[in-house]
Amino acid sequence: MQSININIQLDNSCKTIHTFANEYRNLMQLLVNHLYLDDFGECGGMGRCCTCVVKIETIKPLSEFNSNEKRTLMRHDYNPYEVRLACQIPINNQLHLATVTII
Ligand code: FES
Repeated sequence: MQSININIQLDNSCKTIHTFANEYRNLMQLLVNHLYLDDFGECGGMGRCCTCVVKIETIKPLSEFNSNEKRTLMRHDYNPYEVRLACQIPINNQLHLATVTII
């Protein structure tokens, strides 16, 4: 199983998290489990609360939006072409060496 290394930026510090494909249900779950973030992922991954907003820079393109993700981001005044909902991002090779900034 290939290791996936994800660089996380939060409050001007950087941390690398090592994981595997599908070790977590989604990126939000991984971030909550490793960083113990308050008020992050409040709807549990339903794509409704918009508390799991992240900016993701990747080498490989990410999966397309589902319509719910795009609608939620726009409803909360985020540009869906600049940020994503971490709860809608699966843990797979597309995230290897990505930099994720928690907004
Ligand atoms: S956890 Fe609520 S939108 Fe992602």
